[in-house]
Amino acid sequence: MKISKRANVAPFYAMEILKTANEMADGGAEIMHMETGEPVSGAPAKVIAAAHAALDGARLGYTEAEGDPKLRARIAQHYADYYGRIVAPEQVAVTIGASGGLLLAFLAAFDAGERIAMAEPSYPAYRNTLAALGLEVVGLPAGPETRFQPTVELLRALEKPIHGLIIASPSNPTGTMIPRPEFEAIVKYCDAEGIRIISDEIYHGITYGERAETILAYGGKAIVANGFSKYFAMTGWRLGWLILPPDLVRPAELLAQNMFVSPPALAQYAAVTAFDCRAELDANVARYAENLKILQRALPQAGFGDLAPSDGAFYVYADVSRLTNDSQDFCREMLKATGVAATPGIDFDTARGSRYVRISFATDNATVARAADALIQWLAPENA
Ligand SMILES: Cc1ncc(COP(=O)(O)O)c(C=O)c1O
Repeated sequence: MKISKRANVAPFYAMEILKTANEMADGGAEIMHMETGEPVSGAPAKVIAAAHAALDGARLGYTEAEGDPKLRARIAQHYADYYGRIVAPEQVAVTIGASGGLLLAFLAAFDAGERIAMAEPSYPAYRNTLAALGLEVVGLPAGPETRFQPTVELLRALEKPIHGLIIASPSNPTGTMIPRPEFEAIVKYCDAEGIRIISDEIYHGITYGERAETILAYGGKAIVANGFSKYFAMTGWRLGWLILPPDLVRPAELLAQNMFVSPPALAQYAAVTAFDCRAELDANVARYAENLKILQRALPQAGFGDLAPSDGAFYVYADVSRLTNDSQDFCREMLKATGVAATPGIDFDTARGSRYVRISFATDNATVARAADALIQWLAPENA
């Protein structure tokens, strides 16, 4: 029987490593999970209490397709409080994770066959979802010299016009941010060229120096994608949002009505309280900052090469070309020898990913410290 060609997407190697790591754990091995970008802390206490109350008191039927009005208003308020930007609640579409938001944004903004650019390396779901929708993915070869981020120069160098650009600052897998002047220049260039930007801001709130600025600060007609999975530590609640420019509000609403009917009601009623949990959530970020310091000390001692500057998110993207020419094989060997699970760069960059490894540090300090010791012991026991 027929199977669509679009279903033939690349695997997510992080999940394959996770599977092997879980099998090893079942066999009694001690595993340090640093392969997936998932906070170990779980949702803030107030969100959990609100969910209990909603279970007991609310009907939990469908909400409006673009989300419960209270949550949309609370998200709009967040833009005023956190960024000092005015967003109308009507511009907010609550989605099934940022993943659902990205899908909705791609469908609302682009037609099949159009060309969408992104840095290589990037979060693999961009590439694979666009491909499944029949859009052409245009990789911008972004290396350490541009903090692994797009630049106007890289956009200008493209031979054929593009219709869209995806940016993420801080980025997955590198944690790097686009410097403000470059960010502004990219928005200006894209506006002039009629290129729609989708700004994935899901790592906002998790930064280790300068705070991340929303693309809305630079004007333009960008779509913002964000969600509750990272800073808010609510991965399994499957809730995200888009901030839509006025011309895309109605198209996105029509698509959401048909494709999703409604985002999950229970998660929405609870998530309204998430914005009032800053102290608890900032404590998570302080823990990530400590983890980053541990890795920045240990990885060079173990023999890893350059680490991308982790401005935010919870990843270290390390050059391992001194140690291997096949990072997938290296990750398998590392898991077997040390119990440390990490993701090969080929997940994020099909061209140069075999020389990089992504290590997620969204976990507790003790796990990261144990992983650091194990890596030094494995690769450079003389430094142990
Ligand atoms: C850059 C980026 N965007 C989007 C997502 C998807 O997030 P969600 O759980 O909200 O669907 C992830 C998850 O890892 C991510 O790293």
